[in-house]
Amino acid sequence: MNDSTINPLDKRKDYGSDALEEGELLADPLEQLRLWIEQADAAGVYEPNAMVLATIDPDGNPSSRTVLLRGIDEHGLYFYTDYGSRKGLALLAHSAVSVVFPWYLQHRQVKVFGHATPTQVEVSDAYFSSRPRDSQIGAWASDQSRPIESRGALEAKVREMEAQFTGVDTVPRPEKWGGFVVEPERMEFWAGRTSRLHDRISFEKGAQGWSASRLQP
Ligand SMILES: Cc1cc2nc3c(=O)[nH]c(=O)nc-3n(C[C@H](O)[C@H](O)[C@H](O)COP(=O)(O)O)c2cc1C
Repeated sequence: MNDSTINPLDKRKDYGSDALEEGELLADPLEQLRLWIEQADAAGVYEPNAMVLATIDPDGNPSSRTVLLRGIDEHGLYFYTDYGSRKGLALLAHSAVSVVFPWYLQHRQVKVFGHATPTQVEVSDAYFSSRPRDSQIGAWASDQSRPIESRGALEAKVREMEAQFTGVDTVPRPEKWGGFVVEPERMEFWAGRTSRLHDRISFEKGAQGWSASRLQP
């Protein structure tokens, strides 16, 4: 490799010295996650609510993909998808998940471990009805993760659905589409520090609620 080549795989950055102290984190890690998403947004992170969701299929094979976090409450983390997709079928068979929010710009990451279950139909209905009509039609037209012969065939399915819902004010939610809520059992907050001595604070849910401990970097 000549000297003028920039190899992005060989870059090393020294992270900042912003300390992450146990006492500074909120007692409820879900609230702390909400705060970090707000701070990522304020810092200019693109899609600060994007999370990488890993699932295990019925054969025990892992797979991961990005989804958008659409809500947080005391039950956990909400996202929406096609129940017949690869992830949907995996989750319906095996609810264990691992989630990562990677905010490289801020040298921060949150990991969430828990179980995902389908949301109540009212929750899925409410979110579906808040989506733009084009996205609603798209949910009807696409059988997510299934093969299709061409882009043209997909566009034809969209036109078919548009025709089906012409004159219909409120597009109903397809039964195959809806939410999952990830109920966390463990959450870890990571902040990059100098000399690779990063801060890692892990929250574990027990009978008495959440307890925090520090992990080695
Ligand atoms: C930034 C971003 C956000 C995404 N958000 C979602 C989402 O909220 N729901 C979803 O089903 N797919 C979302 N996707 C697409 C998924 O990453 C994935 O391609 C799709 O859900 C099919 O995954 P599967 O075959 O593993 O089920 C998003 C992709 C990106 C890059």
